[in-house]
Amino acid sequence: MKIELSQQLDEMLRSIEAKLEQYLQPGVPSVNQTDDTLIKAMRYAVLEGGKRLRPLLCCATALDISGQYQTALSASCAIEFIHAYSLVHDDLPCMDDDALRRGKPTCHVKFGEATAVLAGDALQTLAFEIIANDTGLEPGTRLALIESIAKGSGMQGMVEGQIIDMESTGTSITVKQLEYLHSKKTGALINAAISTGAICCNADPLTHKLLDRFGKKLGLAFQVVDDILDQTQTSKVLGKQAGADVIQGKSTFPQLMGLAAAQDYAQKLEQECLTILVELNLSQGYMAALTHRVIHRSF
Ligand code: IPE
Ligand code: IPE
Ligand code: MG
Ligand code: MG
Ligand code: MG
Repeated sequence: MKIELSQQLDEMLRSIEAKLEQYLQPGVPSVNQTDDTLIKAMRYAVLEGGKRLRPLLCCATALDISGQYQTALSASCAIEFIHAYSLVHDDLPCMDDDALRRGKPTCHVKFGEATAVLAGDALQTLAFEIIANDTGLEPGTRLALIESIAKGSGMQGMVEGQIIDMESTGTSITVKQLEYLHSKKTGALINAAISTGAICCNADPLTHKLLDRFGKKLGLAFQVVDDILDQTQTSKVLGKQAGADVIQGKSTFPQLMGLAAAQDYAQKLEQECLTILVELNLSQGYMAALTHRVIHRSF
């Protein structure tokens, strides 16, 4: 990756981290409740690690399109709050029952199940609150962001994917069905990260259309790589339980098509993403750099 791209992504990451911290300060208007258990659990779920790929994608999209990412910072944090909530709930005993996340005990192990459920709920609503409150954005832009994030995370997006994942656990499904599951479970929120970045800088309809194609492919590729890493990496490197998919009887790409074919599939999706970025005239930009990071990551 070119040095300037890498430096700019590092700076973007620092801005995102600072903003996440700012939104979760005890005592700010959105968090002024007297009992501090909830805010502690929320801060634990968000601020203790994480690659921040979704907020980076959101800001990178805005930067590639408009030359700045500051207007996309609140949306990028909203997406990360939704993601963090989804991880807290995904790890619960009634779902994947995982004890390790981001190298630490999962939120319910640390705070108890009921508090973890509530921390997830509060992170979800905080996401929408910060967008509604961002007076730097036009009201119409805020509405479009809320719609995009709700769609990506809700009954037509991540939550739909989670229920299909749950119901297909222990059953045999086809590659096509798995592709659909992945596109919802993980793809939809990643696609929303990209579309919200574009919404924040008023991208034109054609750009939105191409970015939607790009986001769908990148989102799918992300989960294919997650499945591959679950089989090939250690828990220490991943910061979460390795081999969990097999233990839990989940259908995954490596399990359905074999590890080598799954790796080829991830490469193919990467190429397709890059072809779309060429069409957008963004083949040398921040989204291209992040596409590489998504596919070639080791955790
Ligand atoms: C993990 O996402 C959950 C999936 C959707 C597969 P990430 O790999 O982005 O997790 P963090 O945010 O870096 O911990
Ligand atoms: C979870 O997928 C996707 C979410 C909506 C959180 P996984 O169950 O595969 O995520 P990990 O492997 O636990 O991070
Ligand atoms: Mg899961
Ligand atoms: Mg899981
Ligand atoms: Mg996984």
